Amino acid sequence: MRNVYVNLHKYEYTLNNKYACNGNVLAVILVNSAPDKPSERMQIRNTWGSVRFHSGATVVTLFAIAQTEDDKLQSHIESESKQYVDIIQGNFLDSYRNLTYKTVMGLDWVHKFCNHTKFVLKVDDDTLIDTYHLVDYLLQRSPDGDIEDFLYCSTFRNQGPIRRSDDKWFVPMTEYPYSKYPPYCEGFAYIMSYDVSKKLYEATETVKIYWIDDVYLTGLAAIQARITHTNMESGHSYKLLDTDNLSKIVQSSLFLLAKYDSMRPNWDRAWDDIKSLHKK
Ligand SMILES: *[C@@H]1O[C@H](CO)[C@@H](O)[C@H](O)[C@H]1NC(C)=O
Ligand SMILES: *[C@@H]1O[C@H](CO)[C@@H](O)[C@H](O)[C@H]1NC(C)=O
Ligand SMILES: *[C@@H]1O[C@H](CO)[C@@H](O)[C@H](O)[C@H]1NC(C)=O
Repeated sequence: MRNVYVNLHKYEYTLNNKYACNGNVLAVILVNSAPDKPSERMQIRNTWGSVRFHSGATVVTLFAIAQTEDDKLQSHIESESKQYVDIIQGNFLDSYRNLTYKTVMGLDWVHKFCNHTKFVLKVDDDTLIDTYHLVDYLLQRSPDGDIEDFLYCSTFRNQGPIRRSDDKWFVPMTEYPYSKYPPYCEGFAYIMSYDVSKKLYEATETVKIYWIDDVYLTGLAAIQARITHTNMESGHSYKLLDTDNLSKIVQSSLFLLAKYDSMRPNWDRAWDDIKSLHKK
C-alpha cells in the first residue's frame, strides 16, 4: 500500500511560508526540527541561520516540523512562524517514527515553492553550519549554477539495521529483511543539487516507505533514481563541538555538531569564532 504522504505526496501545510524562497536563491536549507525545540530554532536563527546573503548569494533556512497535540506549544509555533517566516508545518503527527514523512515533506515543499534554487540541504537541528564557508564552497562548486547529479555527504557504506530489540533504532526482519543498507548519507547534513532533490522526490512515489529517513531517501530512493554519492572530503564532514580546540576546528569545518546536549554551550562561542574568521 502506498503511503499518502511519502508516496502520494498529499502534504498539507498548516503553516506555510510559501514566499520564503522568492528571488534568486543559491541554497535552501531544510532543518528537521521538533515542535518542542523552540530554543534550538532560536539558537540557529541567532547564529548560522542569520546569514542570508554572502558573496552575492542568497541562502534560505527553513524549519520543517509536524503536528503537536499540545495547544499551547502550537500557538507558540504559530507566533514564531509569523515573526520569523521560516517554518513549514505538515499535517501529520511529529514523532521520530514519522521522520521520513518530514524529510520527504521538505522535498515536496522545495518542489512546489522553491524549484529555482541551485542546491537543497537537509540538516538536523543539532548541526551548526559555517554558512560563509558553505556558500563559498557551493559557488566554487558551481560557478555557473548549472551543477547536476551532485549528492554530497558523508557516506555510510556496509551499514545494516540494528537487530537488538532494546535499541531505539531496532528494526525487525519484517520491516527490513536484508542485512545491509545501500550506501546512504549520514543525516547531520547532505547537499543536493536541485536536480537530485527532484529525482529523489520523484523516486519516493514508488519506493516503499522505510522509517529511517536518511536510509530511505539517500539510500533506497537514491538507488531507484540512479544517483550516486559524492563522499565529503575529510574537512567537510562534521566535527564535534567539544571544548578543547574549538577555534582550531572552526577553521577547517563546514559542519559542527552538538551531538550531545553537553556540547550546546559551545555553540555560540563557535559561531563567534566563525564570524571573526570570515571578517578577516
Ligand atoms: C506518526 O507517528 C505516530 C507515533 O509514532 C503515529 O501514532 C501516527 O499514526 C503517525 N502517522 C501520522 C500520519 O501522523
Ligand atoms: C517551477 O515551477 C513552475 C510553476 O509550477 C514551472 O512553471 C517551472 O517550469 C518550474 N521550473 C523548474 C526548473 O522545474
Ligand atoms: C582536538 O582535541 C582532541 C583531544 O584533545 C584531539 O583528539 C583532536 O585530534 C583535536 N582536533 C584537532 C582538529 O586538533
